[in-house]
Amino acid sequence: MTINKEDKILIIGAGGQIGVELLEYLNSLYGSSNVVAADLKPSDAFAQNPFEILDVLDKNALINVVKKHDIKQVYLLAALLSATAEKNPLYGWQLNMQGLFNILDLAKEKQIQKVYWPSSIAAFGTTTPRQNTPQYTVMEPTTVYGISKQAGERWCEYYHLKYGVDVRSLRYPGLISYKSAPGGGTTDYAVHIFHEALKHKKYECFLSEYTTLPMMYMPDAIKATAEIMHAPAEQIKIRGAYNVAAFSFNPKEIANEIQKHIPEFSISYNPDFRQEIANTWPQSINDAEARQHWHWQHQYQLPQMVTDMLKNLKK
Ligand code: NAD
Ligand code: SER
Repeated sequence: MTINKEDKILIIGAGGQIGVELLEYLNSLYGSSNVVAADLKPSDAFAQNPFEILDVLDKNALINVVKKHDIKQVYLLAALLSATAEKNPLYGWQLNMQGLFNILDLAKEKQIQKVYWPSSIAAFGTTTPRQNTPQYTVMEPTTVYGISKQAGERWCEYYHLKYGVDVRSLRYPGLISYKSAPGGGTTDYAVHIFHEALKHKKYECFLSEYTTLPMMYMPDAIKATAEIMHAPAEQIKIRGAYNVAAFSFNPKEIANEIQKHIPEFSISYNPDFRQEIANTWPQSINDAEARQHWHWQHQYQLPQMVTDMLKNLKK
């Protein structure tokens, strides 16, 4: 990884599921005084870092923060996730798109040098091949979140091609973590299930038992994010967003894995509106391009992830 330790970094949405762990990792690379945390509200997770209350939709406030801290790189994590965006489609579209434009424009104007913005498996849709979904394929998302991710990918590539913006992106699968609560996605069940297994030994799942989705443990997601951001520019041949994959499972399979540690754990199923969202997403992802171009490799499989989640949540 090529790291310029002088760079000042801004994480917008630093208090979210990914933000708190990315912040911790970037602190270890750059030093906490060089990593500015921004969010709508403060959090204990930012205790060591410079912190700004910032709405990414407020462009003037954003410019002031960038100037004040002499920011060179922005990680834009503020967004409405799939389930929350379906409840408030127009605001989901506004936040997910205008937030991105505000950051891409700063990079176009050379006020910042590098941008990270995550896409998602939600950018695919019902007409996409669901097994081993390739990097390049039909993409017709039917959720407002997925539409914003697909459009965002196209705009990232556009800003790169037209204005030379150094923007990098990953299509994350569902992310599983224990340090911060998930923020309103369809894959959140795969986090809730651990908390309920430890507290109540049972869980009612909002997806049906055979709903297979691509997933990844947070340490791998942070590793992928850091690796794509620190790879030499010539290795980043895709400026929309890269497929990245680790493993896939359905609610029944993760419940079986948890039962190896907590034999009395039981799961029941009561699918809600999130089932329809999940039905439009791939079941497994082919990430050959990420593995070839910048040597991506995941570390965690389902059993290691489950063991590590339970060990840490018990603490
Ligand atoms: P999250 O909901 O946990 O966190 C988002 C953070 O952004 C929150 O702390 C929230 O307070 C903040 N925020 C919301 N509106 C804001 C605004 N107007 N200005 C500034 N901050 C604001 O989300 P996450 O799971 O950490 O996801 C981060 C990014 O990664 C999103 O773009 C999401 O689409 C993407 N992603 C996440 C997953 C996943 O499984 N978590 C999977 C695929 C893609
Ligand atoms: N995990 C995210 C969600 O469920 C996928 O982007 O919304």
